[in-house]
Amino acid sequence: MSKKIQAIRGMNDILPGQTCIWQGLENVFREVVCEYGYRELRIPLLEFTQLFARSIGEVTDIVEKEMYTFPDRNGESLTLRPEGTAGCVRACIENGLLHNQVQRIWYSGPMFRYERPQRGRYRQFYQFGAEAYGMEGPDIDAELIILTARLWKRLGLEDVSLELNSLGSSDARTAYRDRLVQYFRGRREELDEDSLRRLETNPLRILDTKNPAMAVVVAGAPLLLDHLDDPSRRHFDQLGELLTAAGVAFDLNVRLVRGLDYYSRTVFEWTTDQLGAQGTICGGGRYDALVQLVGGRPTPAVGFAMGVERLVALLDAQGFVGVEERPQVFLAVSGDRAVTTGFRLGEQLRDRIPGLRLLHHCGTGGFKSQLKRADRSGALFAFIIGDDEVEASSVTIKPLRGGEQQQTISQNAAADFLAERL
Ligand code: HAM
Repeated sequence: MSKKIQAIRGMNDILPGQTCIWQGLENVFREVVCEYGYRELRIPLLEFTQLFARSIGEVTDIVEKEMYTFPDRNGESLTLRPEGTAGCVRACIENGLLHNQVQRIWYSGPMFRYERPQRGRYRQFYQFGAEAYGMEGPDIDAELIILTARLWKRLGLEDVSLELNSLGSSDARTAYRDRLVQYFRGRREELDEDSLRRLETNPLRILDTKNPAMAVVVAGAPLLLDHLDDPSRRHFDQLGELLTAAGVAFDLNVRLVRGLDYYSRTVFEWTTDQLGAQGTICGGGRYDALVQLVGGRPTPAVGFAMGVERLVALLDAQGFVGVEERPQVFLAVSGDRAVTTGFRLGEQLRDRIPGLRLLHHCGTGGFKSQLKRADRSGALFAFIIGDDEVEASSVTIKPLRGGEQQQTISQNAAADFLAERL
């Protein structure tokens, strides 16, 4: 035997039995975004590396160390998308979707980041995302957040909470950045190696540190929220009012900065404590400067993305079934003539009852073993066809759940029988 070839670390197979949860979640997501007027955009998995470097920021973890980047056969540097926003912006500009119009867009699919794999953190993972363009007020920020809250409600997810912050305008952020650098320079000896490096490149990210030894120095840092420009302050206050009016509770988290550089003003995350260390199920915010940075005209923008694996884990734990896959009818047959009759009857039933889940027994095995399989399949009824049934153009129906008696009826009556009961 040859040596087994395995999947790449951090890249998962999603197996039958799990995919029904994925499909159920996908259906609910599609339903909810559609209800709010969002339309789907499909974008490539590969883009020029420059797109992500410029959008996400050269000095972010993603661009510095997590991208799957390689030269193609022409020597062009390409990157497997680590997130969807940059590609979405590129596609909208390239296809003229932003000119004199607003857009509400959603997308889904795999993203790739070379992170250290652990529970809830993978190298290929799936996101659902939504982005809105051309609207600068807090109403659209509120709409997107309210939409996510609606999704949790529809899915029956309860233990999730919303954290909100504002990063202000880019001018306010530059001024704040200077203040922050000054503060951290004054306490240089308390900074770890990572933070010393960030002090020169991306000091806001120091606030995001997970190093407990840095907790005190970070706690004493000046707060961006205290240095917001007036329009950003008003935007933030109004967003809070809109969320409250819609019944969406939130916590202010003044340390929330997010790991991507394109944000301005609103940032938010939905978290849960049911998933261990990787408890953020959804993150997003406003990114008013990005469209211009990617080469379009200035266009206000806001969006979010959620991690599908993390949502599936939550849903699985609470017994979410997703798309029902169990057959309704298991067709047990014995003898060549019964097999032929079974297929004829099966197609008649499918004509009459679209969506009917009917599983044919194929292969060998007597009725006894077939009925065991029928029971294990979760089917509601076993339809049995042997020589007697072939002769009489009948079918014997054995209910597998509930108290109904077994009965033999004409094959012509089988569709009505099912239509009454399903
Ligand atoms: P992000 O926070 O990098 O934001 O990712 C969004 C969500 O994707 C996270 O909250 C998490 O649930 C999931 N996620 C991220 N990395 C992994 C991973 N390695 N394994 C499993 N799940 C993961 C963005 O991607 C932005 N594009 C969101 C956005 C859209 N902002 C504005 N518009």
